[in-house]
Amino acid sequence: MSAPVPPASDFARGLAGVVAGRTAICSLDGDLRYRGYAIGPLAEAADFEDVAFLLLHGELPTAAERGAFAGRIAAAARDLDPAVVEALRLLAARAPGAAPMDALRTGVSMLGQVELDLLPGPRAALLGQAERLLGQVAAILAAWLDLSAGRPVGAWPDRPLAGALLERLTCRRPTVEEEAIFGTTLVLYAEHEFNASTFTARTVASTGSDMHSSVVAAIGALKGPLHGGANEQVLENLAAIGSIDRAIPWLEERFATRQVVMGFGHRVYKDGDVRARLLGGMCRRLVAGTPGEALEDLADTVERTMLERKGLRPNLDWPAARVYHALGLPMSVFTPIFVVARTAGWTAHVIEQIGDNRIIRPLSQYCGPAPREWKPVAER
Ligand code: COA
Repeated sequence: MSAPVPPASDFARGLAGVVAGRTAICSLDGDLRYRGYAIGPLAEAADFEDVAFLLLHGELPTAAERGAFAGRIAAAARDLDPAVVEALRLLAARAPGAAPMDALRTGVSMLGQVELDLLPGPRAALLGQAERLLGQVAAILAAWLDLSAGRPVGAWPDRPLAGALLERLTCRRPTVEEEAIFGTTLVLYAEHEFNASTFTARTVASTGSDMHSSVVAAIGALKGPLHGGANEQVLENLAAIGSIDRAIPWLEERFATRQVVMGFGHRVYKDGDVRARLLGGMCRRLVAGTPGEALEDLADTVERTMLERKGLRPNLDWPAARVYHALGLPMSVFTPIFVVARTAGWTAHVIEQIGDNRIIRPLSQYCGPAPREWKPVAER
């Protein structure tokens, strides 16, 4: 006997509005909070390590805990398995133009094959894997940029993740302000409840599969332009518009052809994304007095028009893309940086799912042909 099928009215396209599980990691009710802490103060004052520790371990770290945690992440980044680096080297020689997102997906998959769990107990092993992945994912991204440019893989700086990653990606020591705003983007990207990639990771974990398989699947989900890939396309859209006088005609053409404008709209935030508000102001301050102000003026015009014409407000990808551009980062690393940050959220969710698991297996509503008879090949 199969389980009773709910009425057709229960069908929710794209699972919109469906509560698909419980989590203690993040809440979006009224205010975005990580384990009860509002995002505003975290964005202003927390390091990425504070937030990643909070997501994984449930509490903000003490100074000693944060130092040790940062040390473990940096050690993992420096200790990328040589077999993985060698495989990336071969892939970079074969296809140097391949997207860094694909290198990350492949790199994490390879790590799943060579990583040994030395920590006792299933939860400790999962936490150890999560912490190592935070450093390793960042290191794979930096190594891929070196290898695809034909450079030797550079050393991982002995500093907290935000500064170290920014230095590796730009090949120069960032200023204090640059490091701070880059760290803020990591804090804002670190976690967001049951978004598509996190739900993907939880679905994979719910089958009894492993941490690395869950993260590989999540990277694949994040790559899509309606999810993480939007931040790269934000900059493409801004470049395509070019100047303020072209903004309205460009947007009208976009609306007429029913194409979405990247960096606007959100499944959950219909009155605006709090993260976009926080980062938008910081981006303006970052570029004050530089040629980057012209792009901010263009962005303001696009924002105003989107609100007036469509009632849509920006999401986090809208200012994040402009911050990364102002920091001199190439567009191809925008979504991979999101991966580095969201690895904290994904791994916390995988651990939570495994800790209280029931396989995720929804139903579908059949809309194909009515029942029909099998025909042998000679009669078709
Ligand atoms: N540009 C233009 N129109 C948009 C839009 C955008 N960025 N986002 C939504 N809309 C339109 C939809 O086409 C829809 O119009 P319709 O009613 O005429 O069909 C209407 O606004 C409502 O959208 P909705 O169905 O509620 O969106 P969703 O919840 O299914 O999808 C996103 C949410 C994020 C996928 C969608 O807003 C989008 O594609 N945004 C651009 C990509 C992006 O920035 N992604 C990053 C998300 S953090």
